[in-house]
Amino acid sequence: MKIAVPKETRPGESRVALVPESCKKLAQAGYEVLVEAGAGTAAGFPDAAYAEAGARLVPEAAALLSEGDFVLKVTAPQVAPRDEVTPLRRGALLLASLMPTRHLDTVRALAAQGVTAFSTDAIPRTTRAQAMDTLSSMANIIGYKGALLGALELGKYFPMFMTAAGTVFPANVFVIGAGVAGLQAIATARRLGAKIAATDVRPEVKEQIESVGGRYVGIELKQSAAAGGGYAKELSDEDKARQRELLAEQCAQSDVVITTALIGGVFAPKLISAEIVGRMKPGAVIVDLAADGGGNCELSQPGRTIVTDHGVKIVAPLNLPATMPTHASLLFSRNLTNFVTTFTKDKTFQLDLNDDIQKGALITHNGEVVHEPTRTALATAAA
Ligand code: NAI
Repeated sequence: MKIAVPKETRPGESRVALVPESCKKLAQAGYEVLVEAGAGTAAGFPDAAYAEAGARLVPEAAALLSEGDFVLKVTAPQVAPRDEVTPLRRGALLLASLMPTRHLDTVRALAAQGVTAFSTDAIPRTTRAQAMDTLSSMANIIGYKGALLGALELGKYFPMFMTAAGTVFPANVFVIGAGVAGLQAIATARRLGAKIAATDVRPEVKEQIESVGGRYVGIELKQSAAAGGGYAKELSDEDKARQRELLAEQCAQSDVVITTALIGGVFAPKLISAEIVGRMKPGAVIVDLAADGGGNCELSQPGRTIVTDHGVKIVAPLNLPATMPTHASLLFSRNLTNFVTTFTKDKTFQLDLNDDIQKGALITHNGEVVHEPTRTALATAAA
């Protein structure tokens, strides 16, 4: 069975789906691995390293895609301006972080092309699936980089310093959303010496925040916001209003606010209004790590940094994992390899739609879109 790894083509994408160490592993499992020439260069993995790992380099993307029985990618294939779906073989398998509800054109095209597509971000959050979880691997990078960005953009030290010129006090950092990215942001800012407060709507996070060096602040919710699997639901209007008060108070006291809140892992609730920003200190920094999902701050401009009239800087970076492509690719590649090898028997990937991981991750199959949330998004888009 041939595994094909094309070079990523979305603007700014520097990651690669498989690194050489994984090519070796998949070759040992019985696959022939084909890699597009130059696919790993931007991530620090030259063609020679792939050749040494036993992969066959293919100079041209369309030829590679049409030869692959199982295509591994980082992001959803493009439909336009470059068509990466039509070259795929009817019946081919595809595994990538498709973010299907954000890429409906691609999903439609994959179904029409007869591709069996799995999305790593739809894999159920179970202990068995943890080693395949690209969302967590990437969220760790996002949280780490987000804390570093906050430190870089702030005109103050993060740690306390006692100097001959007197003492400077540590920066106050407030983290909103303490999932994988938020906890990593807390841990990283803590290592840099900042004082951290953090909030979330899932009650179990209090201990987790404290275990990485943060102080939990929160409101008691009238209605639970836990949606299972670590995902949160949107708050009721009453709880939203109460949370707004807490956020306003905390943001006003903070030097850096790092936001990571997502609903269902995809949609970014607007938690920081223009009014809350208006109450923040001049020189304060907001790092909106939910920018890929539209942002948690009403004033964020995804992909840009702006400074408000009264001097609050709002950083809303897109695709932070691509700014750390070597480790992002290494971890992503290990996640994909774990998925493939878990279901390999007799040197072949075994399609098993009764398996909870495959069933959860399946987006298109036999010419149809089978993933419920994506079907709903398609129906809404059509309406
Ligand atoms: P996520 O990316 O969907 O959301 C980020 C955070 O935002 C969550 O903690 C969520 O509760 C929070 N949030 C949503 N609305 C908010 C609001 N209005 N105010 C404040 N915070 C808000 O979640 P992520 O980071 O992917 O996962 C969250 C948790 O799920 C993890 O901490 C872990 O416990 C669990 N998990 C389990 C996995 C497994 O068992 N395989 C894999 C990944 C995560």
